[in-house]
Amino acid sequence: MTALPGTTAITADAYAVTPSDHRRPAAERADLMAAPTFGTVFTDHMVRVDWSADGGWTHRRVVAHGPLQLDPGAAVLHYGQEVFEGLKAYRHVDGSVWTFRPEANARRFAASARRLALPELPVEDFLASIEALVRTDEAWVPSGDETSLYLRPFMFASETFLGVRPARGVDYVVIASPVGPYFAGGVRPVSIWVAEDYHRAGPGGTGAAKCGGNYAASLLPQQEAYGHGCEQVCFLDAATNTLLEELGGMNVMTVRRDGSVVTPALSGTILEGVTRDSILTLLREGGHEVVERDVPLAEVLDGLRSGEVTEVFACGTAAVVTPIGRLAGEGFDLPVNGGATGTVTAAIRHQLTSIQYGRATDTHGWMHRLV
Ligand code: COI
Repeated sequence: MTALPGTTAITADAYAVTPSDHRRPAAERADLMAAPTFGTVFTDHMVRVDWSADGGWTHRRVVAHGPLQLDPGAAVLHYGQEVFEGLKAYRHVDGSVWTFRPEANARRFAASARRLALPELPVEDFLASIEALVRTDEAWVPSGDETSLYLRPFMFASETFLGVRPARGVDYVVIASPVGPYFAGGVRPVSIWVAEDYHRAGPGGTGAAKCGGNYAASLLPQQEAYGHGCEQVCFLDAATNTLLEELGGMNVMTVRRDGSVVTPALSGTILEGVTRDSILTLLREGGHEVVERDVPLAEVLDGLRSGEVTEVFACGTAAVVTPIGRLAGEGFDLPVNGGATGTVTAAIRHQLTSIQYGRATDTHGWMHRLV
């Protein structure tokens, strides 16, 4: 990363490392990493950086993972001024550790921050923070099938102040968690409940930002989805309540009989998924027609009944590529591809993960070596 003239690029070396005095011994770590479920186990360290309106970004450090001390008057606890990212570190067969398109996450993090009136962390600083943490906790990067170290950078309003205005004190933190597949039971077709009474985002809202509030708003409909025996909720657009938008925590794609892939266009109300973008690129290169446009729910339901829609899948950093085997909502409950994983879904998942785990050549320059 080139620094601006007259400035010094921030690198991982800018992070002062204070080793934790309660690192888990190797045997305990191995136990914790044996069959990691999503987001339940955390590594020994975390990154912290402070920001203030007067001083900018300061105190880059790697410290023991542990509780954050917050005044009960901290603005984030009241007004939810917070953004986050999700990316993964992958262990390759030669032992090296890589991440996937981190600049894209860094740019999205800055865009999310802008929307939430938080300070923008420069791309190089974001990359340096990831490198600093993964280098320190390298031993926590798992090597089993479908496993990785999930990295969760986040930023929140830590200023103690109850007035409603952008905070003048902000914390940036990165934590890491060894993970397996996002859905319990491994990689398998999941069921989706289409919510018609709740919306995730509206025009001019925060739908395109990765902020906690979007996910908070998804929890009640998500609970409704569980009640219908489904793992995820699918939202429709707020303006017409007819168009697919995205799932609670991932983007959605449909495959047609002719092999074309149709997915909701980036309208400003859905998240610009890095996995979504990568998959669309790979599909186009593989000869699939890819269409980003409005996707009416009625068209998908008709297509499932007629056989025109052959597969539906979810995608995201956490979900990778997850087949959808059932689409249900008020008045409909349809199997997708007989409830089995479709061939396009399986192939694109294989192609993407082969790049991420270093089993296929990275012709796009997407992989970034960390260790
Ligand atoms: C991700 O895919 O990384 C996400 O952030 C989705 C979810 C776990 C919130």
